Amino acid sequence: MPAKIIDGKKMAQELREQLAEKIKKLDKKPHLAVILVGNNDASSIYVRNKQKAALEVGMDCNVYHLSEHTGQEDVLDLVNRLNVNADVDGILVQLPLPAHIDSEVIINAVDYKKDVDGFGPYNAGLLANNERAMVAATPKGVWYMLKKTVGDLTGKHAVIIGRSKIVGRPTASLLLNHDCTVTITHRQTRNLQDFCKQADILIAACGCPKLVKKDWVKDGAVVIDIGMNRLDGRLCGDVDFEEVKEVASYITPVPGGVGPMTIAMLLENVYDSCHSIRKIEK
Ligand code: GUN
Repeated sequence: MPAKIIDGKKMAQELREQLAEKIKKLDKKPHLAVILVGNNDASSIYVRNKQKAALEVGMDCNVYHLSEHTGQEDVLDLVNRLNVNADVDGILVQLPLPAHIDSEVIINAVDYKKDVDGFGPYNAGLLANNERAMVAATPKGVWYMLKKTVGDLTGKHAVIIGRSKIVGRPTASLLLNHDCTVTITHRQTRNLQDFCKQADILIAACGCPKLVKKDWVKDGAVVIDIGMNRLDGRLCGDVDFEEVKEVASYITPVPGGVGPMTIAMLLENVYDSCHSIRKIEK
């Protein structure tokens, strides 16, 4: 029997509707500030989608679009002004930044209480220690989808392809914190296919179009595809969807899977940040 499709678009829509209801009850709109440097096409689209979604749920969202040639000190200066701006609840610096800017310096400068991406060392450390943290939006979306489909994750073997700071590592921490057995693989892993074949939950986040084939996947595995690639002008993930859906029990499509959940979880983080910074219910 072919896999059931995990409809991230629908799940995200439901979450956003619930969030909009909660925001109506606040006496102050949560406020997201987004910093975009340069004109990377994909980043511009991501930022536009985030802003649209934030406004739709009733948040304030200001995008600070800086020129490609903005110096690191000027970006830092903006981060510092947003850090101390009492009206701002969440700060997101869209990545990648132009090559002349050290992303680590910028990300590490964001006040941890406003770090709605969860990329800073404070929140990443809390997550790694299984303490209450602002969790990066994509891993949080993946976890939510798994809870809704698999239910109890205890003892499941999750294999993650990719070790990035944005996705692979925080996803591994989050699933470990929920009692999964976790294997992280990456581009230097030998016999990658053999690891993947052992997964109850296979998470692909490596940016290699259609890397994961049917014979990499155990019968009945849950497959989460975080890839977002262009192949022959069409969007595709890191999983060969048409093949793998024949063996998996559940699978996320690209587009319409993890992507929409990332935005919904970002908005949840802004809401949570607003709450923890101030007590604001009517
Ligand atoms: N670039 C690609 N994904 C992301 C993300 O989730 N957050 C930010 N800030 N930049 C990104």
